[in-house]
Amino acid sequence: MFNKDDLKRQLAEMNFFPWDTVFVTANGINGDIEGGAEAALDAVCEYFSDGLLIFPAHTWKTVNGDHFLFDPETEDTCCGLFSQLFLRREGVMRSIHPTYSVAALGKKAAEYVRCDDGAETPCPRNGCMGRLVDLHAKLLFIGCGLQGSSFIHGTEEWAEVPDRLSPDVLPVKIVMPDGSCEDRNIKRRYSSFGDVSENYGKLEEPLLSKGIARKGVFAESECLIVDAERCAAFVAKLLQAEPSLFSTKGAVPDEFYAVKKSIKISTSLLSCNTARLEDEVTSVSHSDYIHIDVMDGHFVPNITFGVPVAKAVHGITEVPLDVHLMVSNPSLFIEPFAKAGAELISVHYEVDEDISKLITLMESFHVKPAVAIKPKTPVEVVYPFLDRLAAVLIMTVEPGFGGQPLIEGCLEKARKLRGELRRRALRVDIEADGGITSSNIGLVSSSGVTLAVLGTSVFREKDRNAYIDRCKG
Ligand code: DX5
Ligand code: ZN
Repeated sequence: MFNKDDLKRQLAEMNFFPWDTVFVTANGINGDIEGGAEAALDAVCEYFSDGLLIFPAHTWKTVNGDHFLFDPETEDTCCGLFSQLFLRREGVMRSIHPTYSVAALGKKAAEYVRCDDGAETPCPRNGCMGRLVDLHAKLLFIGCGLQGSSFIHGTEEWAEVPDRLSPDVLPVKIVMPDGSCEDRNIKRRYSSFGDVSENYGKLEEPLLSKGIARKGVFAESECLIVDAERCAAFVAKLLQAEPSLFSTKGAVPDEFYAVKKSIKISTSLLSCNTARLEDEVTSVSHSDYIHIDVMDGHFVPNITFGVPVAKAVHGITEVPLDVHLMVSNPSLFIEPFAKAGAELISVHYEVDEDISKLITLMESFHVKPAVAIKPKTPVEVVYPFLDRLAAVLIMTVEPGFGGQPLIEGCLEKARKLRGELRRRALRVDIEADGGITSSNIGLVSSSGVTLAVLGTSVFREKDRNAYIDRCKG
């Protein structure tokens, strides 16, 4: 059973703020809610009490050639129960668009709904739908995806995609607040391809992959949260490339949006020629980080570099240091490595120390905190710390030695972590460490890894920087 506070907490978890401008489309709400739909609506109205809350109050199903009189005061909406209940609430203002009116609540509601005054076509750019872009609104879809979205209708019409509005006009009358009637000639949504808005769902994957949309949950309904401004700009680009994009069911072609994300490279010194440290460090200057594997011979059966080496490396290069503490008592080494110049420090989850306290310690010395997990440690263990981390280091070999083969199964953890980060809209690097080469880095990158540690494969190259650049993609 969900109560109002549960629902408000879920809105907070979806990274909404009380002062947001939010356009809500709800196709029923799954889950047992104490007080039913009205209570769910209370939760939403109370949560966004400092912002501008908008629902569709469309009437395109009822206002037509036969019933051409639109009275915003009395006409029901065809946008479902949640919209209908909202429309009838105290203080809710309705725009006077004859077929695509919206209902709004909040300090700026009166000014906002006036944007539809005089609107002729279903979704003019300067109407209420288009103004969502200028208001940096968030589109919240509860229990429904993008298909049928009147906002996406708008982006097609603003792009003047042919064959989206009826050739002839529909004369309608609007009952104005003073009781007078005004004539409007609107063009209804129409396409020779049928209802193309059923194909809007194809946008979901591209929008999620570009971080313009993210997933959430309200009661037990899956939600989509979309940044209106970035969505409109992205769809405009897609329609420029392919105006009839939505005329078919086919997926959005990869090349339209799969921007090849380059991956950052952290070059591990474990396999370099330490007798010529300065030359070796200089030879990998295209790295995004220099990865220093610190091993104490106890946490792992090997001993490597200490603080003096880190300090020396910091003195040789401008490339920031990524210090990987494979030690049993990381609390002893955070300060000295921070003072030696570390930019990012990762501690292992498996140590017998309090992870939260270790993160606080890293924060206190102004280094980027990261938590590392061994191959057998499940990635979920770091979830409680994600909002405080700069990176999660997923070991793709057993820690202790360079030159081992990649354990591909560990990449599943990167995929899971990417999903969790997306869901919570957190920007945390996913670092993979061990056995990575130019031949498997594509696989590593596509799993969601954003920072790859390479050691052996770099230092066996003659031209290391060329190799690093190739690996970056
Ligand atoms: C292993 C280290 C890794 C290793 C990566 O315990 O944490 O950073 O040095 O080096 P290669 O690329 O050789 O696997
Ligand atoms: Zn490492």
